Amino acid sequence: MDYKYMARIPNPEGLKELGVFGKGLLLNHDINNWKFNRQFFVQSVSTLNFLKESVNCTQMVFNEMEEYWRFGLEDDNITDFSEWSHSLTTDIIFQMITGKKTWATASYFLAISRGSKLERLQKFDEKLIKESSKLSKAFQMFIMGMDFFTFFPQWVRSCVPTFRASQKEILEAPNTDRTISDIKDINQEYTEPLTDEEIRGILIEALAGGVDTTANVFSFTIYYLAHYPDIKDRLRQEIDNIFSQKENRSLTYDDLSSLVYCEAVIKEVSRVMATAPFITRFNSEPDSIENIEWGTNTRFLIFAPGVHLNKDYWDVPEKFDVDRFIDEKKQQNGKNLLLMWGGGLRQCPGRRLAMVELKCLIVSVFRNWDIELVDMNSPLKCETSIVRSAKDLKVKIKPRKVM
Ligand code: HEM
Repeated sequence: MDYKYMARIPNPEGLKELGVFGKGLLLNHDINNWKFNRQFFVQSVSTLNFLKESVNCTQMVFNEMEEYWRFGLEDDNITDFSEWSHSLTTDIIFQMITGKKTWATASYFLAISRGSKLERLQKFDEKLIKESSKLSKAFQMFIMGMDFFTFFPQWVRSCVPTFRASQKEILEAPNTDRTISDIKDINQEYTEPLTDEEIRGILIEALAGGVDTTANVFSFTIYYLAHYPDIKDRLRQEIDNIFSQKENRSLTYDDLSSLVYCEAVIKEVSRVMATAPFITRFNSEPDSIENIEWGTNTRFLIFAPGVHLNKDYWDVPEKFDVDRFIDEKKQQNGKNLLLMWGGGLRQCPGRRLAMVELKCLIVSVFRNWDIELVDMNSPLKCETSIVRSAKDLKVKIKPRKVM
């Protein structure tokens, strides 16, 4: 194995201060320790039982949200889909990784609800709701904090007042009452070889890595399908075929393999709108590439949109064309042209789980709901740091009209 390009960050001082460097996977440059953690991680989140459970869990969380949509949305039914997506994936990933429930979806619903409709819904435990809202914000702050502590040296963060204030906010953000150190008790027998600190590092990464990314791909899919009704209709045909025998049943893990068009939609959305646009590596030894000598610690920035939208690699790359992932004749030659999951040894270890979740979410939403963009002329609004996040995706949500 070639471990020359394993490092993501050359000067990890800031990240050490933040307490995230050298633990878990994402920012771990100690190859043996990373290998050990990665094996633990992959084996935990890719087993058949875990993936089957995630089908049930995703639908359970979605059903809870549907209840809020049915009875709680205001009469105009206009709402921000990107916020629902984030809340959903927070609830799903926390339940899957820790076995405990969070209330991010309920918390978002309460934040936007006014009036008496609320009373028709279940009573919420206020303390848990507040804690979930804090937790959701803490994940977003965690991702932002990694950027901030990587790019701004200690003296800037300490001496410049606005930076000092941001640093304080980031360091104080993850103060929820819920500690994840007690979670290891659930699986005590499997945790023996890992220290508590390692377990915490892995759990935090699973939570942080799985929330934003999946939520954004889901939001981007809603945006693109609103602009391409023919593609949405074809996707619905595939979904309806699955349920044609028994309309009211739930989606099962075995159904997922029939969702070929749905998978192609997810890939095409991720090609035109990469949620992780920058993949970085540093070399730990000098190297020669394309007859150029690269010294140790050179930063290689792989810009995913530069590959995804390049006409040397893709036929008419500006066209939103789901068939390019279905029709073999349209398949591109060459490896690593879709960088949705990164590549090489550090390729996303949560990709199977993410694909299962995304398929379940897309089936759940298009099976029963019509989602329209409030402003069809508005471009997709995004904020970009380590991930590109959908923002303020205003939609109208209505129960599906079956023709
Ligand atoms: C659609 C959803 C997702 C996307 C688009 C995505 C994308 C990525 C990308 C591009 C990388 C960097 C790979 C590289 O550097 O080559 C990555 C790494 C990572 N992802 Fe994901 N991811 C997703 C979901 C998840 C989920 C659900 C989890 C956890 C359960 C997860 C956990 C991680 C971790 C821990 C790493 C670091 C791996 C390492 O350094 O060894 N991701 N992901």
